[in-house]
Amino acid sequence: MCGIVGYIGHREAYPIIVEGLKRLEYRGYDSAGIALFDGKDLKVSKTKGKVVDLEELSEKEISKHGKLGIGHTRWATHGVPNDINSHPHISNSGDLVIIHNGIIENYASLKKALTLREYTFKSDTDTEVLVNLIEDVKKQEKVKLGKAVQIALNQVIGAYAITVFDKNKPEEVVVARLGSPLAVGIGEDEFFIASDASPFIEYTKDAIYLEDEEMAIIRRHKGIKVRKIKDDSIVAPYIQKLQLNLEEIEKGGFDHFMLKEIHEQPKAISDTYRGRLSRDKAIIKMAGVEDNMKKFLNANRIIIVACGTSWHAGLVAEYIFEDLARIPVEVEYASEFRYRNPVIREDDVLIAISQSGETADTLAAIKLAKSKGAFVFGVCNVVGSSIARETDAGAYTHAGPEIGVASTKAFTTQITVLTLMALRLARAKGTINSSDFHRHLLELEMIPKKVEEALKSDAHIRIIADIYKDAPNCLYLGRGYNFPVALEGALKLKEISYIHAEGYPAAEMKHGPIALIDENMPIVVIATKKGHYEKVVSNIQEIKSRKGKIIGIVTEGDTQVRELADHIIEVPETLESLSPLLNTIPLQLLSYHIAVMLGKNVDQPRNLAKSVTVE
Ligand code: F6R
Repeated sequence: MCGIVGYIGHREAYPIIVEGLKRLEYRGYDSAGIALFDGKDLKVSKTKGKVVDLEELSEKEISKHGKLGIGHTRWATHGVPNDINSHPHISNSGDLVIIHNGIIENYASLKKALTLREYTFKSDTDTEVLVNLIEDVKKQEKVKLGKAVQIALNQVIGAYAITVFDKNKPEEVVVARLGSPLAVGIGEDEFFIASDASPFIEYTKDAIYLEDEEMAIIRRHKGIKVRKIKDDSIVAPYIQKLQLNLEEIEKGGFDHFMLKEIHEQPKAISDTYRGRLSRDKAIIKMAGVEDNMKKFLNANRIIIVACGTSWHAGLVAEYIFEDLARIPVEVEYASEFRYRNPVIREDDVLIAISQSGETADTLAAIKLAKSKGAFVFGVCNVVGSSIARETDAGAYTHAGPEIGVASTKAFTTQITVLTLMALRLARAKGTINSSDFHRHLLELEMIPKKVEEALKSDAHIRIIADIYKDAPNCLYLGRGYNFPVALEGALKLKEISYIHAEGYPAAEMKHGPIALIDENMPIVVIATKKGHYEKVVSNIQEIKSRKGKIIGIVTEGDTQVRELADHIIEVPETLESLSPLLNTIPLQLLSYHIAVMLGKNVDQPRNLAKSVTVE
């Protein structure tokens, strides 16, 4: 969490940093700050609130000139969001300034030791401890900044991506990472530093992604030197060519990123299967699966680990893998799995699902499984992310950047990748016959068009949203493949509208939740044809008898649910195994419209951050 941006070069740093912070606000947005070296001195401006609040403040507080600067957008860990706890933090001498993403776990003992040496602290943050530790090492050991950072980081336990400079040496910036991402953009006589490449994409396509336990000393005229933090060995940096475009990270005429990303799903899904699915040749080819086919075919079971929406995609995958490929699957919250001493065998395959590829718990679960000898496969969206690098093999979702904090296209593209995998393995194992396999390929290719159809219900969904926007609670019900979709629908509503919502398997309702139903309770029921349609219709009858308000997600042309429900939203017909890809769409739109009507900040819901790099 937290976004960091830095610049050293020949341009004015302020606009690059402020624009960059806006692009990184998905990483945290409870406070923001900037430090500029204006040629003579350090100018710092920081505030609780968003980057626009920082802009307003720095207009009054600082001259915005300087060719060296760092900026931060925060998701609070140590210390409440307030002006003082906002980054950047300055050392006691006033010379060193730092921004930090991560957590220094042993900050209390380090702070105690520094206090004994008469260091004082203004904030409650671990970051202010770190900058003073660096200063202390620099003074005690009489070393340059780079060396001081290295020695200090070897005393630190925790996770970090940091950028630090000394106002007396404004030709140099030091950066380091462990557990939090950090990219350095390389221009002509200039360098950009950021948590991801989006802040500098219009300036350079050349970037170095630091690996864990690496640091770099960046000198404006002398270039960049990368070293290992532990043993000081020199690392030859690998310069990547970025594929990202500016348009991909802009709203493109939509009011919110979330809405744009909902509407991008037809393209995102076809980008996901393009090059992997050939209906003419009746094949699915995925390099990461082909290269490791034996591991998959010999697997005792598949364990899926993920968090949040990605965990819901994992639950859908459990149905698909077991149904089509007949491989036993367990789906685990990464945060539980990593701490509960799970039984992991060498013939287990672990699939980690993560949009950002940076989720701390998922990363830890991967490391645990690897240490026990399991083969680990990643399903990630962000290319080159920590999870993509840590796994033995993987498949990217190719959804393009997802900036809205609430996951939308990440979910449907994760399901698409997992469906392709299940079909490929089913074919290899002979658990699907060729006509079923072909039917799946055909239907999968039609999904983007059908998602477009589903998106046409937007205006109708807005009317339903208006009716239920003031409901304090909402239930979501689904069965089989669509039980995880019910969970995902409820999560979407909760996280962006702050309405309490729960998802349940429709049949589970009788075991408790039915007590909540009265004439004020809206209940979204996924009741598309195929699967357990008749059973779900019976569940709808039960709700109706208790006067609940029913919003049915139904297959085009449905008549039975139409008679029972207060509202219906139609989606095109497809195979049951692919129905989550369509049934999710109206649920995303419903929560989006409710949140907008309630005046909530859809793209940046309170307390959340897109990339959860702390456990
Ligand atoms: C919900 C949402 C989160 C993420 C979760 C995992 O809309 O976005 O629940 O799904 O934090 O993130 P990734 O997929 O990046 O590991």
